[in-house]
Amino acid sequence: FHQCASQWSSRSVAELLQWRPTEKVDDVTVNGFVRSVRSMKTHRFVSLGDGSSLAPLQALVQADDAKDLAVGAAVRLTGSWVSSPGVAQSHELHVSRVEVLGPSDAKTFPIQKKYHTPEYLRTVPHLRPRTPVNSVLLRLRSEVIASLTQFFAARSFTQTHPPIITSSDCEGAGEVFTVMPASDAPATGSNKDNSQAFFFRSKKYLTVSTQLHLEALAQAVGNVWTLSPVFRAEKSDTSRHLSEFYMLEAEMSFVDDLGPVMDLAEDMLRSLSSSLIESSTVRDLLFRSRNSGSDLAPADEVRRRWEGLTRQDWPRITYSDAVALLQQKSDLFEHKPTWGAGLQSEHEKFLAEYVGGGEKPVFVTNYPRDIKAFYMRETQPASPQVPGPTVDCFDLLVPEFCEIAGGSMREHRLDPLLDAMKRHGILKPPLEGASDGSSSSGLDWYVDLRRWGSPPHGGFGVGFDRLLSYLSGVQTIRDIVAFPRWHGRCDC
Ligand code: 4AD
Ligand code: MG
Repeated sequence: FHQCASQWSSRSVAELLQWRPTEKVDDVTVNGFVRSVRSMKTHRFVSLGDGSSLAPLQALVQADDAKDLAVGAAVRLTGSWVSSPGVAQSHELHVSRVEVLGPSDAKTFPIQKKYHTPEYLRTVPHLRPRTPVNSVLLRLRSEVIASLTQFFAARSFTQTHPPIITSSDCEGAGEVFTVMPASDAPATGSNKDNSQAFFFRSKKYLTVSTQLHLEALAQAVGNVWTLSPVFRAEKSDTSRHLSEFYMLEAEMSFVDDLGPVMDLAEDMLRSLSSSLIESSTVRDLLFRSRNSGSDLAPADEVRRRWEGLTRQDWPRITYSDAVALLQQKSDLFEHKPTWGAGLQSEHEKFLAEYVGGGEKPVFVTNYPRDIKAFYMRETQPASPQVPGPTVDCFDLLVPEFCEIAGGSMREHRLDPLLDAMKRHGILKPPLEGASDGSSSSGLDWYVDLRRWGSPPHGGFGVGFDRLLSYLSGVQTIRDIVAFPRWHGRCDC
């Protein structure tokens, strides 16, 4: 950096803020967006951001040169980098050349230098990333992806790209979006049935999870992972649900039981948080949450989350034991815990607090078979103390939050899989007129895998945007995703 500093090349704001030369350096150029302009008699103090750091760069511009420096404008400033008499920064840019590359009308620019509510910012998703805290969140996302990519590469997992358009509903929850060409979509109010005109010959969906395809890939190359967009037509209006989100999924081949699958999820999150704790992005995040009094969880809480994830030996408790525990405390809950029903978020929060001590994440394993997806392997032998059949699966709960990941052993044997599909009502006869004999479940290929060399295998999926909400302390998942989509909202 020192070597090329005197050359005419631009530097990011973050790089410049780190650079504290004792002598003045000329010909320093920086690109960015004007965050604010403060007028003095003969000159202007311009604060400039470029998304690389929370703190802006301070530039001193002669009043005559500053006429077009409006809030929001994209500019290139060149000048001398000198130590600053102000206390807020060690150095500042004394500008000799101003280029306005993208002008802005400061009066109508929707993001002013003041507190904007999250609700307001969601109405301008195309401009929201320009706010300092949103730029930190974008950098956090990028660092998390880089760290996870390294984690999996170090363990020789192959990164893969399973499809987005699929023939089945992986989770069987009926929350799929259908895919069709615009020309086939019925006009509003029309009763026209287009079922004969499917673009792909039969109904197709946006994927709700790439798991089934990952299983096929794991059966070919061993351990695999992916970070993929997934789509769910859930009408849940909560701080944890989106219609489009990223899911990180990993699938391990030739594993006999759930232990190593949970170990992988645990190691992955531990490695991630350890690698990020030292990052300047995370420091920015903590600083911001301490100083803004805004919509992020307090810095202490966020720090506790990071440290909790770095701890060893996360507790593992069976669903049946968890329900017994919840029943002992049933006065605390609005929904009474019963064996055979799903856990409510109040139950999950309690378990994270009580079993994980409010610090460590908690694995809840072996849920009742009948409330889980068809592909999960049944627990053998069944425990005589447990009221009904269970499956080898887990949900990972994190303190103060909720389920962040789910995983399971997959039923790798043909006949038990067919039985499970029958029980779930998804083993359908061949489609009438289907030339390839395929069934309406779209899962024939998945069943087929069990016919030719399907080893025991298992994996998990992490709600990637939930993970980022948790790590950042952003209170709702709608504010961790740049362009969020949820029931009733898909703005740009
Ligand atoms: O628990 P889920 O439904 O599990 C699966 O889809 C498995 N097929 C994954 C696998 O084993 N490969 O979803 C996984 C995670 C959840 O734990 C949750 O964190 C997140 O995805 N998730 C959502 N995140 C945001 N918005 C939604 N609507 C979500 N639904 C699930
Ligand atoms: Mg789940």
